[in-house]
Amino acid sequence: TIDIKSLPSELGYFTYDPGFTATAACTSEITFIDGGQGILRYRGYPIEQLAEKSSFLEVAYLLLQGELPSAEEYSDFERDITYHTMVNEQLNTFISGFHYDAHPMAMMAGVVGSLAAFYHDRLDMEDSAHRMLAAKRMIAKMPTIAAACYRHHMGWPTAYPQNNLSYCERFLHMMFSVPAEEYKVSPSAVRALDLLFILHADHEQNASTSTVRLVGSTGANPYACVAAGISALWGPAHGGANEAVLNMLHEIGDVKNVPQFIERAKDRNDPFRLMGFGHRVYKNYDPRASIIRKACHEVLQELGVDDPLMDLAMELERIALEDDYFVEKKLYPNVDFYSGIIYKALGFPVSMFTVMFAIARTVGWVAQWLEQSETPTKIGRPRQVYNGPVARDYVALDKR
Ligand code: ACO
Repeated sequence: TIDIKSLPSELGYFTYDPGFTATAACTSEITFIDGGQGILRYRGYPIEQLAEKSSFLEVAYLLLQGELPSAEEYSDFERDITYHTMVNEQLNTFISGFHYDAHPMAMMAGVVGSLAAFYHDRLDMEDSAHRMLAAKRMIAKMPTIAAACYRHHMGWPTAYPQNNLSYCERFLHMMFSVPAEEYKVSPSAVRALDLLFILHADHEQNASTSTVRLVGSTGANPYACVAAGISALWGPAHGGANEAVLNMLHEIGDVKNVPQFIERAKDRNDPFRLMGFGHRVYKNYDPRASIIRKACHEVLQELGVDDPLMDLAMELERIALEDDYFVEKKLYPNVDFYSGIIYKALGFPVSMFTVMFAIARTVGWVAQWLEQSETPTKIGRPRQVYNGPVARDYVALDKR
């Protein structure tokens, strides 16, 4: 970073820090990461313990409220979420206006943003109970909207949320059930989805969460804040990497081609990067990637799926981790390297992978938005270092 003295009339010093590599914009009690050691904790609880013992809705409660729920608190929370799973019927009309092959993330950003028009209640956001209601509504409705976007693409009629099912069962049912056919949700699929949702639920001030906080700092409607987060998540350098990993594995095609792609990733003149590798904060193995890699083997076995992409991914990881380039730059698989293989085994099309991430990360976005709303907050306003032309006089059109 370069320290630059601003004008005397201004604040004194500010820091030039492109990409915010060394700038904290807030304090937070929600998520702790030690990137050097590969540690991730939600509200102090290690991600490994939550992945093994908890459930997505319990983790959602923890992230929102700061403590694990009692049995009664959990059942009230689950009832509240279930109560809000329906969306206004007009929203389905809105979804039907999209072209059938629109990318589901484009639809999600638009449809979730449009919730601000259904719940245009910014002024009541001074009330903490009202803020919590907005947070719960978003957690509840996100799977309903995601499934509706997918079904629009497929040309299938909308599947309404079955509120006798659990959060992940309900989502799988809304995604894949076909009228007049009984759709049985596999317990292995439910557990795998729940695990992926736990691991993606929050990750402190990543690009999408910082976006939600920045929009939130202006006092914007919370649904608009989350729609902005969805847009930020979509990029391949962030949540879009899970889709990009699968496309990359397909492009590599065969284990024998792995070394050639590793060489391309190291070539500074080639824009190709190993997708699902590297992280701004983790300079060690991403703890979520270790859990997902293990789950990947289990899920493929339980579902009886033999996916050659798994062998390809493992070979890619093996060769990369033995290569000086990746070792020196501390580039390890991140959360997205293996997640797509599980989503694929569960039947999700590649274009829905980042939507899965968005459903889970909604919990983190709203938890961070709630925390911000409860703390005196200044509007987010980065500075810049101006390096354009110095002052000059306007020249009339006929004189240029
Ligand atoms: N493949 C090859 N080289 C890489 C990779 C990669 N995946 N990632 C980083 N590098 C190299 C860069 O070329 C750079 O080299 P240099 O120092 O010689 O210029 C060095 O490692 C540092 O990379 P930066 O891009 O400066 O690191 P930054 O912290 O800004 O970026 C990021 C992190 C965006 C995740 C990057 O590693 C990347 O593009 N990875 C691939 C995309 C990806 O998997 N994104 C998901 C991230 S996790 C998440 O958001 C859910």
